[in-house]
Amino acid sequence: MRVLSGIQPTGRFHWGNYFGAIRQYIELQDEDESYYFIANLHALTTVRDPKVLAGYTLDAAIDLLALGLDPQRATLFVQSDVPEISELCWLLLTGAPMGLLERCHAYKDKVARGLPADAGLFTYPVLMAADILAYDSDVVPVGEDQVQHIEVCRDLAGSFNHHFGQTFTLPKAKLLDHSAKVPGTDGEKMSKSYNNTLELFEDAKAQRKKIMRITTDSRPMDEPKEPEGDHLFQLYSLVAAEAEREEMAAMYRRGGFGYGEVKKALADAAERYFAEARARRLELESDHDKVRAILADGAARARKKAGEVLLRSKRACGLIPT
Ligand code: ADP
Ligand code: TRP
Repeated sequence: MRVLSGIQPTGRFHWGNYFGAIRQYIELQDEDESYYFIANLHALTTVRDPKVLAGYTLDAAIDLLALGLDPQRATLFVQSDVPEISELCWLLLTGAPMGLLERCHAYKDKVARGLPADAGLFTYPVLMAADILAYDSDVVPVGEDQVQHIEVCRDLAGSFNHHFGQTFTLPKAKLLDHSAKVPGTDGEKMSKSYNNTLELFEDAKAQRKKIMRITTDSRPMDEPKEPEGDHLFQLYSLVAAEAEREEMAAMYRRGGFGYGEVKKALADAAERYFAEARARRLELESDHDKVRAILADGAARARKKAGEVLLRSKRACGLIPT
């Protein structure tokens, strides 16, 4: 079984990205074969500053490695280092019905809000289909918002196969654990668009300050409180050990504590939880050559596979004589 997923370098990763996606990708790296890439071609539809895009891309690679992605076990690469993808995207575009893409939410939502959309955003799901099909991927772990794009990928692959003969493997979406939805510092879903994130590798002191400012209610200290559903407790649960979590839950139910105490415990637990990744990141940060070598090796492996699939598809549609 081959697992593949991509993540866009549109900002620095936050706890939502980690607990909602990255941690689960890393757990899957023990599957038969896994491919993870940094989707910089997709990010180009939103990040238009070249320095920023290049910086986020390298940071994303360093972060993933620091968090435990093992380049011996998984193939890690940058999307644009595999030019076969863009060529395959064209083959798929020629058969992609306008109506199918018009229904895709990224484009549809933007138009509905009266914002100008570009062709890159419109064809975004086709590029995503090329990403998936190029490696004969069987399983694609994604968040709920991406499930529609996997359906588009299956549609495009199915109609190509129907028209030109069996060429592509139809992938299946593997929904990431939905219960892993991480609240932000304001209690809403953590997202870089809401300015409520705790970044994975921000300065420890700055993070502590942010944690101390997490919004809480103004109920009296003595009042017993239900921990489930409380965003401070939810954040604590992500980084605390099981016994600490139980203890904290009991303290909530007893009452007689201040949220300041919980925040301090949260900051301490977060520091411990990410200490190893932080140390690994520091090392990688001082050795960009090593990171670039890992990405080059990943791209070479990815290109080998994508080249085979591209050749097969070009033969199928008459671009290369059989
Ligand atoms: P953002 O909302 O900050 O722009 P992205 O859309 O780039 O984040 O998300 C990248 C990945 O991280 C997706 O798979 C998404 O499902 C996951 N993710 C982002 N925010 C959260 C969150 N608060 N809880 C759980 N998963 C999240
Ligand atoms: N569109 C995905 C996202 O925003 C990223 C992505 C690009 C992707 N290509 C992919 C995910 C292929 C899975 C498979 O999250």
